[in-house]
Amino acid sequence: MTQRPLLGATPPMGWNSWNTFGAQITESVVRETADAMVATGLRDAGYEYVVIDDFWEADERDAGGRLQAHPERFPSGIAALADYVHGQGLKFGIYSCAGTHTCGGRLASYGREEIDAQTFADWGVDYLKYDFCYRPFGADGPTLYRRMAQALRATGRDVIFSACEWGINEPWAWARQAGCHLWRTTGDIVDNWKSIRDIGFGQAKMASYGGPGGWNDPDMLVVGMRGKGNVAEGGCTDDEYRVHFALWCLLPSPLMIGCDVRAMDTFTSELLAHPGLIAINQDPAGLPAWNLNGDENHWDWKNFQLWARHLADGSIAVGFFNIHDENTHKMVVGWETLSLDPRRKCRVIDVFDDEEVCITDVSFAINVAPHSVKLVRLVPILD
Ligand code: GAL
Repeated sequence: MTQRPLLGATPPMGWNSWNTFGAQITESVVRETADAMVATGLRDAGYEYVVIDDFWEADERDAGGRLQAHPERFPSGIAALADYVHGQGLKFGIYSCAGTHTCGGRLASYGREEIDAQTFADWGVDYLKYDFCYRPFGADGPTLYRRMAQALRATGRDVIFSACEWGINEPWAWARQAGCHLWRTTGDIVDNWKSIRDIGFGQAKMASYGGPGGWNDPDMLVVGMRGKGNVAEGGCTDDEYRVHFALWCLLPSPLMIGCDVRAMDTFTSELLAHPGLIAINQDPAGLPAWNLNGDENHWDWKNFQLWARHLADGSIAVGFFNIHDENTHKMVVGWETLSLDPRRKCRVIDVFDDEEVCITDVSFAINVAPHSVKLVRLVPILD
């Protein structure tokens, strides 16, 4: 018997409609997005799933009890749209909710898990984001997510199952066992510095729960939104988007693009498709990053964050994040804290520039401007 590949072996990568389009999503936007993912090289960079979030649903189920697409915004129906997306060499995702209604008040899957899972499978769905609104009192997360996971599995189709319960019942402790491949650890991200900082650097406590087959999900990317769209709340600078993307790559977190990929500027498309950053995110070992300046009580936790992660090839990725509002800071990493022999010489590679900075032992220090990041890979030189 041939072995089926592990679903979600590395963090899922794709695009989701919510951050930019919210309730305005249409089938033509989804088609154009699939086209743009091919044309801009995002598909070839590894972004695979095109996911429609809430508001694709019609007001009523059909005579057979099946969910249907909104007749004005998705007139061709979901199966045709999934075919189109598959035709572009991409995979197709959709959204529902564990309660009776979605968070946008549309029809959802509580008590209809089997028929909905079968409908999704029949349409060619490869990814299901499953929200947590309007659940009956007393219905707990593990039960509701397990039910839908079982229903999806019973269809025989490989479907990535994305739990969106906002981290309220510590899903990192149970969602993997409940059959989820990723689970939100936080409330909704918005497009500004405070949101990416607070969500991103709040990931230390659950970091060790993520790994091949099941990932912590600190929500979708706002990179490139530039203050436009459904969750736009001020926007970020280029440096802040770099901090956001570098941290999501390092954690590692799912990479679901939220901007309008039909209209990206060069900065955005180059950042999102950066091969060195994506390689760190998709590292086959899937080990978690850890925060080297310890817990939230550390004296400088609010200003400077040092994160590191062991990679499959024996190198170590280190992110130097300066989250102070004004001061440039010299940040240092010592080999000792990375479980490296201090005498071990390492090549220090700047990941953004793809350039060797130096060869050194003991420690490495670098100046980091406010609201910005330096990301290096330490490659031990073995003698
Ligand atoms: C929220 C969820 C968002 C989006 C929205 C749709 O609960 O966190 O990511 O899916 O619902 O209504």
